[in-house]
Amino acid sequence: MNRQRIVVLGSTGQLGTDLVEVLRLDDKGETVPVSHAACDCTNANEVGEMLRKLHPDVVINCAAYVRVDDCEDHAREAFAVNAIGALNVARACAAVEALCVYISTDYVFDGSKGSPYVESDPTCPINVYGASKVAGEHLVQQAAPHSLIVRTSSLFGKTGARGKGGNFVETIVAKAKAALPRWRILSHLCHRKLRLWRCAETVPPDDSESLPEASVLLQYWLSRMVRHREYFGPHVTRRQN
Ligand SMILES: NC(=O)c1ccc[n+]([C@@H]2O[C@H](COP(=O)([O-])OP(=O)(O)OC[C@H]3O[C@@H](n4cnc5c(N)ncnc54)[C@H](OP(=O)(O)O)[C@@H]3O)[C@@H](O)[C@H]2O)c1
Repeated sequence: MNRQRIVVLGSTGQLGTDLVEVLRLDDKGETVPVSHAACDCTNANEVGEMLRKLHPDVVINCAAYVRVDDCEDHAREAFAVNAIGALNVARACAAVEALCVYISTDYVFDGSKGSPYVESDPTCPINVYGASKVAGEHLVQQAAPHSLIVRTSSLFGKTGARGKGGNFVETIVAKAKAALPRWRILSHLCHRKLRLWRCAETVPPDDSESLPEASVLLQYWLSRMVRHREYFGPHVTRRQN
C-alpha cells in the first residue's frame, strides 16, 4: 500500500498537536503539520499554494475559531475561519484530489432531542459558533468531492485549546483555587457513578476551609478521567473516611 501524505492544519492547537503525535506513531504515512503561522486558512491563495506544493492525500482541517462565547461578538472572525476558511481548504483539496476532513462539533445541534443524535438529524445551532460550523460543514460538502465531517463534543488534551487559557484540568483547578462557587464546581464534577455525591454533600458551599476537600474530589475525578495529578499542590491528600 502506498504511503499517504497527511497534512494537519491548525497543527499547534489542542487537537492538532495530539493528532500529529498519534499519526506519527503510525508509519503507514507521512504527517505534515501546518500551523496558523505557516498558513492562514482565511487566505484562499495561501491555502491553494500550500496544498499544491505539498500535494497531500488527506488534509485534516483542525484550524478553527473555537472561543464559543467570543464568537457572539466576533461573528465575522468566526465565520471567516470556521466557514470561509473551511471552504478555502475544501477547494484546495478538490484541486489536488485530496480527502478533506473537517472537524465539526455537537454545537450544530440545540441539545433538545433527548436521545443521542445521529448524522441525519437536522442541525439547529443556538449560537454563532454552532452556526459558523454548520456553514463550514455545508461549504466543505459543496466544494470537496471527497470529504469527511467529524462532529465531536468537548475535547481534552494536555495542550489545551489555544486562546482558552490552559487545558481543561488547569482551568478547573484554577477555578477551584480562585474559590469560585465551589458548590457549582462540585455539583458539576461529582458523578453518581463515582459515588461522590455523599462526599460533595459534606462540603458546605460557602465554607472557606473546603477548598482542600474540593481539591481531593477534583483530584479523584480527574485522575480517573485524565491522570493529570501533577497539577495539584502538595496540600492535597486522599480523603480517609
Ligand atoms: N475544543 C473543543 O472542546 C472542541 C469541541 C468540539 C469540536 N471542536 C473542533 O475541533 C477542532 C479543533 O479544536 P481545538 O480544540 O484543537 O482548537 P484550538 O486549540 O483553538 O486549535 C485551533 C487551531 O486553529 C488555528 N487557527 C486559528 N485561526 C486560524 C487561521 N485563520 N488559519 C489557520 N489556522 C488557524 C489556531 O492557531 P493559533 O492559535 O496560532 O491562532 C490553532 O492552532 C475545531 O474544528 C473545533 O471546532 C473542538
